[in-house]
Amino acid sequence: TLEQALARIADAADLDALEKLRVELLGKQGSISGLLKTLGGMSPEERQTVGPQIQALREGATSALATRKAAMESAALEARLASESVDLTLPAPAAPRGTVHPVSQVLDELAEIFADMGFAVATGPEIEDDWHNFTALNIPESHPARAMHDTFYFPDKDAQDRSMLLRTHTSPVQIRTMLDVVKANPGGAPIRIIAPGRVYRSDSDATHTPMFHQVEGLVIDKGIHLGHLKWTLETFLKAFFERDDIVLRLRPSYFPFTEPSVEVDVGFAIVNGKRVLGGSGDAPGHGWMELLGSGMVNHHVIRAGGLDPDEWQGFAFGIGVDRIAMLKYGMDDLRAFFDGDARWLAHYGFSA
Ligand code: PHE
Repeated sequence: TLEQALARIADAADLDALEKLRVELLGKQGSISGLLKTLGGMSPEERQTVGPQIQALREGATSALATRKAAMESAALEARLASESVDLTLPAPAAPRGTVHPVSQVLDELAEIFADMGFAVATGPEIEDDWHNFTALNIPESHPARAMHDTFYFPDKDAQDRSMLLRTHTSPVQIRTMLDVVKANPGGAPIRIIAPGRVYRSDSDATHTPMFHQVEGLVIDKGIHLGHLKWTLETFLKAFFERDDIVLRLRPSYFPFTEPSVEVDVGFAIVNGKRVLGGSGDAPGHGWMELLGSGMVNHHVIRAGGLDPDEWQGFAFGIGVDRIAMLKYGMDDLRAFFDGDARWLAHYGFSA
């Protein structure tokens, strides 16, 4: 009877017992399902009285089962919520945190210092073609400077000027910038940019990695001379190393894309066994350290950039970013830059 079924449903101890009961009453072989099957063998009169009774029994059992199940589930949820309460006053466990990498930090510092001097940031592709990386910079095929660059070429070297390579320096951005400016201003226009980025050479030891970072500087205008170059570098280096006593020495050198070319040395003193920048390198106990390459932009390069060298002059420089980062933060193995070891970073003051 319905009363018996309802009593058993009310008595079910848990969800498993309830499910067993559901199968016993309403499953394919269930007792109520069995009663429904007997309808087939009844006379129409009998069926008319018994049918609705069985139907009522089935509906009553079904809804009682559903109600009881919902009640059990919400009771289980209540119990779980009560037992799993979170104590928000407990201290959170310490999670390891990353930090800014010295190279990223230095790139930011460079952009900021040069922005104060009116330089915009320009970029170019790391996968470059032979023409932008070499030919346009006055380094023709068979020029010995090509061999010095330890270039990573992509296959198909026969393509000559169009063969692809990993740029060996940021100087191709000089060419790209001039060409862009000329496209927008056919007569030319003043340029003041730095171009920071990754460069690649097949070279690896404690002070060389196959990928490293350079920042290129390019100024093009009318009446630009070496004095502008020297002032710019001096102002930049004093700001970057946060010392007013930085002394530069300009030494004649050679780069195919500058004429004249100057290598810039900076004076240092030895303090506690470490080189500390500042003061003249000629003072007793001091020395000169080579810091960067630079010069007046070669007229062939100005022309390759689409400008008239009789009208436009300029200077350019290229600085190893990893190197000046090591110098500023007193680091001595370039390879540690690529280990991502948080303890090494923390040792040099880079921690979150
Ligand atoms: N491109 C040169 C290098 O990679 C550096 C440089 C840039 C020199 C600009 C002069 C002018 O060594």
